[in-house]
Amino acid sequence: MTFAVDTLQDFEVRPFDAALGAEVVGLDLSQPLSAEDFRRIHRAHLDHHVVVFRDQRITPAQQIAFSRRFGPLQIHVLNQFQLANHPEILIVSNVLKDGKPIGLGDAGHFWHSDLSYKETPSLGSLLHAIELPSEGGDTLFANMHAAWEGLPARLQHKVAGLCAEHTYLARYAELQQRSPWRPNLTPEQIAQVKPVVQPVVRTHPETGRKALFVSEHFTTRIVGLPEDESRALLDTLFAHSVQPAYVYRHQWRAHDLVFWDNRSLLHLAAGTPDHLRRVMYRTTIEGDTPF
Ligand code: SIN
Repeated sequence: MTFAVDTLQDFEVRPFDAALGAEVVGLDLSQPLSAEDFRRIHRAHLDHHVVVFRDQRITPAQQIAFSRRFGPLQIHVLNQFQLANHPEILIVSNVLKDGKPIGLGDAGHFWHSDLSYKETPSLGSLLHAIELPSEGGDTLFANMHAAWEGLPARLQHKVAGLCAEHTYLARYAELQQRSPWRPNLTPEQIAQVKPVVQPVVRTHPETGRKALFVSEHFTTRIVGLPEDESRALLDTLFAHSVQPAYVYRHQWRAHDLVFWDNRSLLHLAAGTPDHLRRVMYRTTIEGDTPF
């Protein structure tokens, strides 16, 4: 992909009639992208939090190159699910080949923000539909700015300034029990995912908007609160965050490339029936230290 081009592409950004999200129609990401087109896409991402690029016939290298325009890419700890010759791509798939998983089959089983368990969690992720099931396989997104703004004032007051622990291992054993093919982690992998402490309410570094930043997948406790109080508060925040009014459900179409903002959203994979195949390629962009 060449970056220094002036030719504008004729595309539209169409907001969804939902709590978040917009589709981009008429843009071809296999073609060079001008600075002005990039600026429009960046703006749409900040405004809508999920941008769905329709009908993208792009190669893994083109997905990587486009993703890199937003920042350095993060390599997922489950390196056994990297795409061959493209470690920046995590294969998300329920497909077994010769009895072995080709990708992470249960990625997104619980609501989460990607890599919130790292000191520098992900800015955003891009998921490209390679093979879709005839039913199921939806992805849900919840708007954490709306969740913060909709929190009763008494709870806003209570959680502002609190911090919480996030860890990749929080529900790993539980996931392994559900999906017997989820791999055991090596000592090297465990060393990469030490628990971190994050603010419960974060400020988006580009828009200045506040967002709740806890998830049922990775957040284990509120720092400084007794265990029972911490559990009760987290459960209240989790339930509040993903209520239907804040959620957009994405039903995938062939060749969709979906780009979401992990600083603004949680997401969840609704699941695919076992007898159907789903193959997706994910790139993950590094963000800032949350504040
Ligand atoms: C993820 O959580 O990154 C995967 C989402 C999906 O497969 O729909």
